[in-house]
Amino acid sequence: MITTYKVFVPSVIGSGSSLRTGLELKQLNIKKVLVVYDEGMKKVGISDKILNNLEAAGIEYIVFDKVIPDPPDTTVEEGAKIARESEIEGIVAIGGGSSMDTAKGINVLINNKPPISKYLGVQEGLKDGVPIIAIPTTSGTGSETTNMAVISLTKLNKKDSVVSPVCIPKLAILDPELTLGLPPNMTAATGIDALAHAVESLTGAHSNPLSDALSRESIRLIHKWLPVAYEDGSNLEAREFMMYASNYAGMAFTNALVHVGHSIGHTLGANFHIPHGIACALVLPEVMEYASKTEYKKVAMVCEALGHEIKENATPEEIGQGAKKVLRNFIKSLDIPNIKELDIKLEDLLKVAPAVTQDSGIALAPYRITTKQVTEMLKSAYNA
Ligand SMILES: [Fe+2]
Repeated sequence: MITTYKVFVPSVIGSGSSLRTGLELKQLNIKKVLVVYDEGMKKVGISDKILNNLEAAGIEYIVFDKVIPDPPDTTVEEGAKIARESEIEGIVAIGGGSSMDTAKGINVLINNKPPISKYLGVQEGLKDGVPIIAIPTTSGTGSETTNMAVISLTKLNKKDSVVSPVCIPKLAILDPELTLGLPPNMTAATGIDALAHAVESLTGAHSNPLSDALSRESIRLIHKWLPVAYEDGSNLEAREFMMYASNYAGMAFTNALVHVGHSIGHTLGANFHIPHGIACALVLPEVMEYASKTEYKKVAMVCEALGHEIKENATPEEIGQGAKKVLRNFIKSLDIPNIKELDIKLEDLLKVAPAVTQDSGIALAPYRITTKQVTEMLKSAYNA
């Protein structure tokens, strides 16, 4: 087997590491940056802390604090205009996936003409931008280590991705102290997104030995530490291990990509406006049951990493059923609602099954999946 390892982002991880931002920029010889975040970062004092740190290090900065959820192309283009006019030498992105995606989109447009909608999908020949320093404040998206920016296209009323080396951060700074204030529901929703990255990367068509190792360790850490962080958000040890878990899962899915769970998640998210992590978790147990038909050895690894022992002579069906049960129990233990509890009617839910099979991620599924199979999975998960 020939294996290719792709993207890895140098990272500084640990409590208080965000206070090294100025120093890290100096070492990269960057003197002027655009700092990208949303209003929430200001309210909780995180952005001010980092701006003060930049100031102390003598780094000149321009603030772009207009990030909103599901970042629209218009925001990206506005930020890029400021970035070009100010001749910045770097971008510091502070926040969750939306801040990272906005910063990445801005970087694409620094040396490539707008609109951003010209650069959707995998882009090979884009002109480089400036170094991005990613400082995540949630443990879930893994965006600090990926080559992808998800952008909402306002005129087309849909989301799509720019996939390019220009989107890869130069450095990630993972400071668990920045996640201490994340409320329990968001801790669970973002943590379960990382779990979906890990289990899908492990069982998808592009997995490789390194992404497998990252996925397994990520699942193990999430199983151990997400319930602790959910119950007690002030537990710094749990927050730190969740940052590692999210980062490992991000590296795994940058190398191996995700499949059916995220195709369902994207479709449900777009149709019923459900937060990304929750949308990806809703049918994940059924996705593992489906995957076990061919990928039973990998699904058994998922079970083991979740603390569920598999009998030596277990059949693929038994492994699939075991994975479905253990995943659902874990998701439920974090009070993540099922589809019915989200007030979605079954008839409306089943209408989106054809759209799931048209999602680009389906190409990475362990084996071909039909609309009928997706319909069965949605029915099984509806009130589970
Ligand atoms: Fe995700």
